[in-house]
Amino acid sequence: MSNIYLRPQLAKEMAQQLLKPTGLDVGLRSGLFLSGLRRTGKTTFLRNDLIPALEQAGALVIYVDLWSDTQTSPMKLVHSAVRKTLKDLQTPASSMLEKLKRVKGADMGALGFKFGFKLENVGVEGGTTLAEALTEVVDQVKTDVVLIVDEVQHAITSDEGHQLLLALKAARDAINPRPDTPGHFVFIGTGSHRAMVSELTARRNQAFAGATSIPYPVLNGDYVAFLLDKLRVDGFAPLPSHKVASQAFKTLGSRPEEMIRALRQLIHHRSPGIAPDDILPVIATTLRSTAADIELMKVEELGSLAQAIFDKIASVAGDARGIFSIDAAAEYSKSVGRDVRVEEIQPVANELLAANLILRRGHGIYGVTDPFVQEIWREKQTLLKKF
Ligand SMILES: Nc1ncnc2c1ncn2[C@@H]1O[C@H](COP(=O)(O)OP(=O)(O)OP(=O)(O)O)[C@@H](O)[C@H]1O
Ligand SMILES: [Mg+2]
Repeated sequence: MSNIYLRPQLAKEMAQQLLKPTGLDVGLRSGLFLSGLRRTGKTTFLRNDLIPALEQAGALVIYVDLWSDTQTSPMKLVHSAVRKTLKDLQTPASSMLEKLKRVKGADMGALGFKFGFKLENVGVEGGTTLAEALTEVVDQVKTDVVLIVDEVQHAITSDEGHQLLLALKAARDAINPRPDTPGHFVFIGTGSHRAMVSELTARRNQAFAGATSIPYPVLNGDYVAFLLDKLRVDGFAPLPSHKVASQAFKTLGSRPEEMIRALRQLIHHRSPGIAPDDILPVIATTLRSTAADIELMKVEELGSLAQAIFDKIASVAGDARGIFSIDAAAEYSKSVGRDVRVEEIQPVANELLAANLILRRGHGIYGVTDPFVQEIWREKQTLLKKF
């Protein structure tokens, strides 16, 4: 039995909405953005549920994770994923062609497809654009092409990333509006920063204005039941009730790893006479802040100015601006207890950026990378104020 709890029905419905949208869902063709907190299972869902469901429905899926390699630019990562797919399509009896053949039944280019451009020129300046390459794929393979970009928010922090989004929009606009198109180009992006992902679809100047942005459907009580069943089969007892365990899972931000950690503590450090249902909520509440504490500790280690900058950013719910201003320097001076010069701010902010504690959301706009960490930070501030 696998350790992954699968959600085939949910995935099938999403695939259906994306590939065969009804009149009401047709906006999904403009792009779908899924946002959900870190470590809640977005990538697992894409790889184990959504991609298989899309492939089962006959789509050609290209998957790129922008977090897999933060040294390489988003544009390069997408280009190389597209090139790899094109190469598979050209290669007789490649596993991709076999898969297409199984689903579509037809004699899917048994000898490999032939494209009217050179692979190495795709995405190269003056070469073949993504729009041109993908149009040819849709027309020859006669199927939908779904490009999934995991952690797409990384693409809006740079100009080059922005170019990428524009190139994808161009591909969509080249393929989808044709009345007799044999397939569509569907773009799916995920990200852990709700506000940033929504921004991609909300702002008029963003490439994907008008696309749909929905929250990633987090795992729920069904996953908890699956987990408890596994533990029961493995002979662990006594176990908490489903109700209390589900509540603990919610407390832990619906994060499977944290839940497993909590259950491990429950089982290994059991005190006789205390019922699991009484102790699990306590463990969950403690663990909840431990995860964030590790991140907050990193801020502390960067020094008092880093702490002051982080505090300023974390205290704002949305976009934090003006962190390099003269006023900001005065604020920092107060909390650090010495005069902070404006030119000292940038290098320290860069350290926070490099540690992935804060992120740049636009020109002069910053935010805390992990919203969960920010939430815990706020809870602590409220506590501090009470004393
Ligand atoms: N359906 C599931 N069943 C069992 N475990 C799961 C499931 N989904 C996620 N997990 C576990 O939770 C952890 C986080 O999953 P995953 O990496 O997919 O999340 P993510 O939201 O993509 O995280 P990140 O923010 O780091 O990209 C992993 O250890 C994974 O094995
Ligand atoms: Mg992920």
